[in-house]
Amino acid sequence: MQNETERSIKILAIESSCDETAAAVVENGRNVLSNVVVSQIDEHKLYGGVVPEIASRRHVEAINAVVDKALSDASLTLPQLDAIAVTYAPGLIGALLVGVNFAKGLSYATGLPLVPVHHLRSHIASNYITNKDLKPPFLCLVVSGGHSHIVAVEDYTKMKIIGKTRDDAAGEVFDKVARTIGMPYPGGVNLDKKAELGNDSAYPMPHPRVADSPYDFSFSGLKTAALNIINNAHMKGEDVSPEDLSASYRKAVIGCLTENFLKAADDFGYKKLVIAGGVSANTLLRRELDKKCAEKGLELFKPELKYCGDNGAMVGAQAYYEFISGNIAGLSLNAAATKSIEQG
Ligand code: KG4
Ligand code: ZN
Repeated sequence: MQNETERSIKILAIESSCDETAAAVVENGRNVLSNVVVSQIDEHKLYGGVVPEIASRRHVEAINAVVDKALSDASLTLPQLDAIAVTYAPGLIGALLVGVNFAKGLSYATGLPLVPVHHLRSHIASNYITNKDLKPPFLCLVVSGGHSHIVAVEDYTKMKIIGKTRDDAAGEVFDKVARTIGMPYPGGVNLDKKAELGNDSAYPMPHPRVADSPYDFSFSGLKTAALNIINNAHMKGEDVSPEDLSASYRKAVIGCLTENFLKAADDFGYKKLVIAGGVSANTLLRRELDKKCAEKGLELFKPELKYCGDNGAMVGAQAYYEFISGNIAGLSLNAAATKSIEQG
């Protein structure tokens, strides 16, 4: 695919991997022409977490209008596009299938190439929108509701996992503890706000390390420690301070993330660091990394808050690089609930 980088390539990107139905049009991987996100959070809140069956149904209901709006906001029609991109993995399988089948239908009807995009790769690419000059190689901490990875981004479509969680993801344990404290779903952002008001030394927390890998994480013990504090207090009829527990717990989780990330940067010689995924919106993570990277003379890149959570623009950003590297799927493309970021 020669000289593709020299002309304007406009890609319609569709995202339906979890509880947001999203579509965007992105030009040359960096310029967002439209970005439409319809969230299902209010409905899932009733159940304290995402109900996969409901997520799939809501995607089916919303996707047509979301894609239409993305096109009209960009003042474009389908024949003016260069490709259709879609998140195909990883995520909730029923939810992914809605986006994948919709994109396949559009690709078949228009003859436009179909570009499959890995969800975590797209989270990383959210940084290309915010930081126009950012180019690989760099080291990225990708932290979401389902994943916690340290990834060496060697090139736009070449990645290597340096470290990952051995059990729960960072977002997942934030949500679980927040829910037990009594905060509505998704708890991560609410716990983050409460933590800003609390004393982070009020409740001692463990600092779990994975014996055979300094770059891997383990959050389930930390989660259990926080849940035990709440349950023990309830049994004794005592109150737990939501602010202090949030602050103590947040400090412990973010401490593990920053320690391993900075160690990996040091050991592998990366001077350019990037964060991505829903948890990259965390106030303490951003503050700590800003401070530590400045002290160590490292460059830190962060996505704008509106691109931290799931959205179509980040899919369009990564899709551009997949497209120019020739990653085009046939109509036999299938969704996958799990897939390594290395395989893309
Ligand atoms: O990337 P994302 O939107 O969806 C997945 O791919 O999983 O990440 C969602 C996760 C949720 O667990 C949510 O609670 C967490 O990101 N999150 C946060 C914050 N904002 C969102 N966690 C901690 N602090 C935040 N400010
Ligand atoms: Zn995500």
